[in-house]
Amino acid sequence: MTATRLVPVETLHRIVEVASRAPSVHNTQPWRWQGDARTLELYADRTHQLAATDPLGRNLTISCGAALHHAQAAAGALGWSTHVVRHPDPAQPDLLASIELTPGTPSPRAQETLAAIEARRTDRRRFNAWPVPEERQAHLARIAHQRGARAVALTDESERYIAERLVRRAADRQRANPAARAELEEWLSRDAGDGVPPAALPEPADRAGAHPHRFEGTVREDHPGPEVEATDGLIVFFDTSDDPHAWLRAGEGLAAMWLAAEEAGLSLVPLSQVIEVSETRQAFQVEVLGSLAHPLLLVRVGWRSTAGTSLARTPRRPVSEVLDLV
Ligand SMILES: Cc1cc2nc3c(=O)[nH]c(=O)nc-3n(C[C@H](O)[C@H](O)[C@H](O)COP(=O)(O)O)c2cc1C
Repeated sequence: MTATRLVPVETLHRIVEVASRAPSVHNTQPWRWQGDARTLELYADRTHQLAATDPLGRNLTISCGAALHHAQAAAGALGWSTHVVRHPDPAQPDLLASIELTPGTPSPRAQETLAAIEARRTDRRRFNAWPVPEERQAHLARIAHQRGARAVALTDESERYIAERLVRRAADRQRANPAARAELEEWLSRDAGDGVPPAALPEPADRAGAHPHRFEGTVREDHPGPEVEATDGLIVFFDTSDDPHAWLRAGEGLAAMWLAAEEAGLSLVPLSQVIEVSETRQAFQVEVLGSLAHPLLLVRVGWRSTAGTSLARTPRRPVSEVLDLV
């Protein structure tokens, strides 16, 4: 017999609050939730889609997948079991998932997971110089796999060399693209509850602790140098299809991988430009993945520097703005 206790409004509110801590491209938080007494539905918010660099909504859907992961973790921690149906209605492509909530018992590691969600940041500062062992990278890829995503560590020297070259080329292409630059500037100067505030980026004055990243050369001082260091681990999310199903799963896998990295003292930084630029995405598919699969997202991982101070949290839209109760 299925238990039918109704989900209190405060519970829906708390689940969405935790889900909102998920990473999202440019901190766009491109999601909306609709909740009733038994279900939470996740919708893509197209008003927060990046038209210039994400016209298909790949990064948008990956971001929503990360929020879907966090919502399940929050529900579990609050003692609710979840049954998720992804893309439940083909007539509504923006309805990405429906989560049915039934009374359950808190999962054993729920509190640790919630703590990792609170602590996680995109930390673009330089990693510690110790390389991440291949076995550790493979373990992270397996965690994504458990969430229905596919990911593999790039450990072969020639694959890494090609990937690094394509990452640099993608950054150059976007720097030369006025629409991409304008979009980046916009999301660096939002004053509401979204976008990437300067406090979340490495201090330009702190050259030793800085690392080249996609937000440079905009409001921040330029740091010429490699985007990927020789000791960084590189992990690519891929799938046999390049569609919303694969993107949502990749987002769930990304969130699970990121929290596992956080708990292990590792930092993870997405490098999505190489996928956003069609020329480099296609080259990546052929030259790195041997045309066997579509690349969806590249991330680099490394040990967090223990010398670093803590990094400011990026803002979030208030729950009232992203949750509709029906
Ligand atoms: C799909 C996706 C793509 C991203 N791409 C990049 C990227 O190319 N470079 C980068 O520095 N951060 C990237 N990020 C990280 C976001 O900028 C970050 O999650 C957001 O600003 C919120 O900050 P937080 O992760 O510290 O909570 C990406 C995140 C997601 C989910």
